[in-house]
Amino acid sequence: PPPGPLTAPPMGWNSWNRFGCNIDENLIRSTADALVSTGLRDAGYRYVNIDDCWMAGTRDAQGRLQPHPTRFPGGIKALADYVHARGLKLGIYESAGTATCQGLPGSLDHETIDAQTFAAWEVDYLKYDNCNHQNRPDADRYRAMGEALRATGRAIVYSICNWGLAEPWLFAPTVGGVVWRTTDDINDSWASMASILDQQAGLEPFARKGFYNDPDMLEVGNGGMTQAEYTTHFSLWALLSSPLLLGNDLRSVSASTLSIVKNADVIAVNQDWGGSQGRRVADFGETEVWAKPMSDGSVAVVLLNRTGAAATVATTAAALGIGGSSQYTLKDLWSKATTTSTGSVSATVPSHGVAMYRVTRAGTLAAAPASGTLQVSDL
Ligand code: GLA
Repeated sequence: PPPGPLTAPPMGWNSWNRFGCNIDENLIRSTADALVSTGLRDAGYRYVNIDDCWMAGTRDAQGRLQPHPTRFPGGIKALADYVHARGLKLGIYESAGTATCQGLPGSLDHETIDAQTFAAWEVDYLKYDNCNHQNRPDADRYRAMGEALRATGRAIVYSICNWGLAEPWLFAPTVGGVVWRTTDDINDSWASMASILDQQAGLEPFARKGFYNDPDMLEVGNGGMTQAEYTTHFSLWALLSSPLLLGNDLRSVSASTLSIVKNADVIAVNQDWGGSQGRRVADFGETEVWAKPMSDGSVAVVLLNRTGAAATVATTAAALGIGGSSQYTLKDLWSKATTTSTGSVSATVPSHGVAMYRVTRAGTLAAAPASGTLQVSDL
């Protein structure tokens, strides 16, 4: 596929997980303001994405989509101007069907006019859903919108929300998609989040720089999981090179939620591309090791404990693909402590929690060249 508009997984916020259809333009404006005042924008969260229910129940006399008259009376272009003035980008939602999932006018067979409308409003991101698809082929429906978006000449991030039913990772990049949903909807529970995580194992070959698997939006801060569980959710979504789309109420975001989603070391793991998204490298049943190579030659690793009690989870530098050094530096990305190791990567991990490290070669080669000179390629 041709290069897309992304250089890293998109970061931002989406209205659906917390607000559903209970949205209006005041919420969007105050969320944009909150992204700025909390420092989240400067931490990388740039997209303000309006999900389903932004539109009126009918098209206008020219066949164009129109915003809901009482909840979005100022229109979408004014909202785009508002978020752009704050250094943010605006996202919107539609469905590749005759209606959205909430029964509002869909874009199927209206792709050209709808893409032109979004471009005229200066929208930067489209989440394109799968409801009411009339059993027409997935790739055809998603290609029609991909081509219509491209024809507008505006760089619009095209997010394909095909729920993973028809292996969207196979067709999405060929129809203009740069992120694609891999599963059914997340909800704000440990069981849902853990189940979606399980469904990511094996999808790593389909992601590459600029094109990412989407295990759905974040639930961090919505109240249904513990702080340890939300830390697990954020750590693994970061490691998977997932879009990081916050789904909570930013107008009242707590310090403890911010301490998770603003962790610059974890965000850096998400935004870096060292040749692969994160993948499961060991499955011990109820404990697991997930790892992602980093572009500087280090490896980011998540030690996960799914049991109901604290447990030791361990791996080695060799198992992570960076064996052969006499010493390693381990930075704990949550506590920020740095330790050294001769190769063991091990932690006592709380129930439903993680330990997350960045493991870097720090020593001389165990099998050093005869000259004793450390090779640049080993650093
Ligand atoms: C589907 C999507 C969700 C959300 C809703 C809106 O369920 O998967 O992410 O967009 O539709 O109706």
